[in-house]
Amino acid sequence: MPATPTRYTATARLLHWIVALMVLATIPIGTVMIQEGLTRSTQDTLFILHKNGGVIILLLVLARIAWRAAHPPPPLPASVPAWQQAISRLVHVGLYAMLVFMAVTGYTRVAAGGFPIEMLDALGVPRLAPRSDSLAETAKALHHNGRLVLVALVLMHVGAALYHAILLRDGVFSRMWPPVGR
Ligand code: HEM
Ligand code: HEM
Repeated sequence: MPATPTRYTATARLLHWIVALMVLATIPIGTVMIQEGLTRSTQDTLFILHKNGGVIILLLVLARIAWRAAHPPPPLPASVPAWQQAISRLVHVGLYAMLVFMAVTGYTRVAAGGFPIEMLDALGVPRLAPRSDSLAETAKALHHNGRLVLVALVLMHVGAALYHAILLRDGVFSRMWPPVGR
């Protein structure tokens, strides 16, 4: 019998850290790119990074969800009380759901508004949303409000991860560390 694993698989850890870094960059880029007073070329660059980065995040998150379905996470240490295990499951499901939600509403806002999504356009991927100003406005409002839910979940998640890593040192952080190898 192999020993019970104490760590996420190398694939799960690599995907976690790539997506984490991309999301932690995409949120401020999205916030800055719509501010007044940017030069046209700065704004264009930030929009290109945000839209195309967001599409890549969506593909990576879908890959993570598929990988997770086939490779369930190892059990948490018994020292983590059941109620905290339940909250952590809820926050993880919420993070996955909000990443998909943000990417889909962002995509819909741009596709329905008739704007380019350079990477997909270059690959010849057809638009998956009809051209519609009202759909674009609805998606924009959902994307705008959804960011608050995502940011709240990220703050809870990072706070809990650092609490385990720095104060408790109970092995929870090293389940997701290092990003590469072992
Ligand atoms: C998980 C992925 C994504 C995250 C976390 C994210 C996050 C954000 C945030 C925080 C803002 C600022 C919103 C505001 O303050 O009103 C924003 C704006 C925006 N995002 Fe995203 N976004 C994501 C994916 C996408 C994608 C895939 C696209 C398009 C292909 C996109 C297109 C836009 C656009 C066009 C805006 C400006 C909205 C406006 O018209 O005011 N986003 N995003
Ligand atoms: C510096 C920032 C971050 C740290 C230190 C961190 C740390 C961790 C750790 C230690 C775990 C494993 C938890 C467990 O064993 O139950 C984990 C899981 C997870 N993290 Fe992060 N994380 C960070 C950022 C993010 C970001 C930005 C996102 C997405 C927005 C994210 C999404 C997730 C998800 C969805 C899981 C659950 C994995 C699964 O069971 O499928 N993390 N993270």
